[in-house]
Amino acid sequence: MATITLSSGRSFETTSEKSILDAAAQANVALPYSCRTGRCSTCRCKVISGLTTALNPETGLTELERAEGWILSCTRAAETDLVLDVDDLGGLILPTPKTLPCRINEIVHLAPDVIQVFLRLPPTADFEFTPGQYVDVIGPNGIHRSYSLANGSFADKVLELHIRSVDGGEFSEYWFKQAKPNDLLRIHGPLGTFFLRNTANIDLVFLATGTGIAPVKSILESLPRLKQDENPKSITVLWGGRKPADLYFDVSQIPGNFTFIPVLSRPDRSWKGQAGYVHDVLLKTIPNLQNAAVYACGSTAMIHSAKAKLTQASLPSSRFYSDAFVSSGTT
Ligand SMILES: Cc1cc2nc3c(=O)[nH]c(=O)nc-3n(C[C@H](O)[C@H](O)[C@H](O)COP(=O)(O)OP(=O)(O)OC[C@H]3O[C@@H](n4cnc5c(N)ncnc54)[C@H](O)[C@@H]3O)c2cc1C
Ligand code: FES
Repeated sequence: MATITLSSGRSFETTSEKSILDAAAQANVALPYSCRTGRCSTCRCKVISGLTTALNPETGLTELERAEGWILSCTRAAETDLVLDVDDLGGLILPTPKTLPCRINEIVHLAPDVIQVFLRLPPTADFEFTPGQYVDVIGPNGIHRSYSLANGSFADKVLELHIRSVDGGEFSEYWFKQAKPNDLLRIHGPLGTFFLRNTANIDLVFLATGTGIAPVKSILESLPRLKQDENPKSITVLWGGRKPADLYFDVSQIPGNFTFIPVLSRPDRSWKGQAGYVHDVLLKTIPNLQNAAVYACGSTAMIHSAKAKLTQASLPSSRFYSDAFVSSGTT
C-alpha cells in the first residue's frame, strides 16, 4: 500500500499494480483524463516526491517532460508514497462507467467518410452522462474503440455518435462495410473529463476539427440547461476541416445564442468563409483571451498547436481543456 497526496492536500491509497488514475477513481477522486492509454497527455501531472513505475508506454510525453518529472497518471503506478502536483476536479462525482448492451437504431451517412450512428439502449438501462464525455463501443470480436457522445440529452435512450472512417482501421471496416440496424453491440461508459467547468461570465470558445464537433454538439445542446448565474458572457464555436464536405452538418442550426465560424484549411476559390487553422482564426476574432475558456476537440496536431499558441497569447493555461481523438486501439 502507498499513499498519494494531491496539490489540494487530498490523499488516497493505492497499490503497485494499479494506475494512479484507477486508484483515484476507486477512491472517488476525479482526476482529468481522456484516452487512458498514455497517448493524449490529458492526465499529465508532476511528481513532487516519491517513485513511480510505468505500467504501459508513455507515448504522450516528450523526453524533456519526462526529464522534468512529468508522468501520465493513466500509465503510472506508485512504488512509494507520492506527492503529485495535480488538482482533482473538486468534489465532482462523475457518473459511474458501466457496460451495457445496445443495438444500432439507425446509420446516417453525413459525408463520404463520416457516419452518424444511433445506438439504442434497453428501455430499462440505467445510464447517464455529462455532455462532452465519450463511451467505448465494444464490437464484433470484442474490439473496442472510443467515440464521443453527440447528443446533449437522451431521454429516449438513444445515443448519437459521429464516426469518421480511418483507412485500414479495424473498427472502421465494421462501421462502414458491415454495420446495419439492429446489430448487437456493447458500450462501456461514460468516460472522460471533457465537460464544461465554470462558465459564469466567461467567453466560452469551442474549437473542433473533424468529428471533434460531436462532443461540442452535445455540450451546445445542453447549454439551455445552465442556471441563470452560470451564463457565459459569449459563446464562439470554430469548426475546421480541409474541404467543405468535412463540415458535415450545419452547426448554426443548433438552438442557442452563439457565433459559429466554419474554417477551411485548404479552401478553393469559391470559399467565402475563414481560411487557415481554427486557433489562428480564433486569435483574429478574439485577440484578448484573458477572460476565455477554450474547449478543443479533434486531432492531436490541432490541440497541441492551439494550446501552445493560445496560451502564449493571453489564454490562462488552466482554462484550456481538450479531448484528443488519438488512436484508441490497443493492438
Ligand atoms: C477519447 C476519444 C474519443 C474519440 N471519439 C471519436 C469520435 O467521436 N469519432 C471518431 O470518428 N473517432 C473518435 N475517436 C477515435 C476512435 O476511437 C478510433 O481510434 C478511430 O475511429 C480509429 O479506429 P479504427 O479501429 O477504425 O482504426 P485502428 O484499427 O485503431 O487503426 C488503424 C490505423 O490508423 C491509425 N489511427 C487510428 N486512429 C487514428 C487517429 N484518430 N488519428 C490518426 N491515426 C489513427 C492507427 O494508429 C492504425 O495505424 C476517439 C478517440 C478517443 C481516444
Ligand atoms: S495519456 Fe493518460 S488519459 Fe490520455
